[in-house]
Amino acid sequence: MQLSNNVAFITGARRGIGRAIALKYAQQGADCVLLARSAPTELAAEIEALGRKALALAVDVSDADAVDASVKQAIAQFGRIDVLVNNAGIAQDGLLLRMKLEQWQNVIDVNLSGAFYCTKAVSRHMLKAERGRIINISSVIGQMGNAGQANYAASKAGMIGLTKSVAKELGSRGITCNAIAPGFITTDMTSDMSEEARKQLLKNIPLGALGEPEDVAEVALFLASPGARYITGQVLNVDGGMIM
Ligand SMILES: NC(=O)c1ccc[n+]([C@@H]2O[C@H](COP(=O)([O-])OP(=O)(O)OC[C@H]3O[C@@H](n4cnc5c(N)ncnc54)[C@H](OP(=O)(O)O)[C@@H]3O)[C@@H](O)[C@H]2O)c1
Repeated sequence: MQLSNNVAFITGARRGIGRAIALKYAQQGADCVLLARSAPTELAAEIEALGRKALALAVDVSDADAVDASVKQAIAQFGRIDVLVNNAGIAQDGLLLRMKLEQWQNVIDVNLSGAFYCTKAVSRHMLKAERGRIINISSVIGQMGNAGQANYAASKAGMIGLTKSVAKELGSRGITCNAIAPGFITTDMTSDMSEEARKQLLKNIPLGALGEPEDVAEVALFLASPGARYITGQVLNVDGGMIM
């Protein structure tokens, strides 16, 4: 049990990568605060069946007041937060000249501002405890860009800058902050890719397949575990070798 007695606060936990991380953490002994647009109540029940505690909350991470309230609720119930995973994310693709201001703003608000609001609210408690792990789910798109995803790429590159700044600011207080950059992972987010686009994509993945949410969850577990105590400000790619 690598995370016994830990409390993890995971955003975007109802589906996909966030759900896999929450289950992995619970299997390793963590109690979990689970956020999503709709409360992840079924996942909370699964986690409770594993013998852990869970709190499922419907919170829009782009609403700073709602984020603050959810952190207060988590602290009231569990007394502390040891691990924060900023995973909630959306894509609203479009070519630059056709991209509406709303598409730009929505993606920045959820992916980047949401991570900032959660980090600010949770780190206050980590600072008092003088320990904590912050894990930001970025993307290879934030490292290499992608036509039709200027908003998404900017938000994910922004998360990398946020990660490094938080790592420098909070390192002396026993808090690490790292990012994971997944490549293409089989979730709802990638489910509407055409067969042609998938074939094209596979040509650029040395391991020759898309990843699974569990592949990202394994690395999120490592970053939260005692073994990662001396790692901060890093971006770990989980992308089948797309970027090297
Ligand atoms: N899948 C990939 O290939 C891939 C690759 C690189 C990076 N990523 C990143 O990994 C993260 C998870 O992706 P995924 O593929 O697992 O996505 P997903 O299956 O679409 O799930 C997204 C989760 O985020 C939640 N969410 C969305 N907007 C939210 C908001 N405003 N406030 C709170 N929660 C919100 C959703 O809540 P509801 O369930 O209630 O709708 C859902 O639980 C994202 O940050 C994504 O950018 C994914």
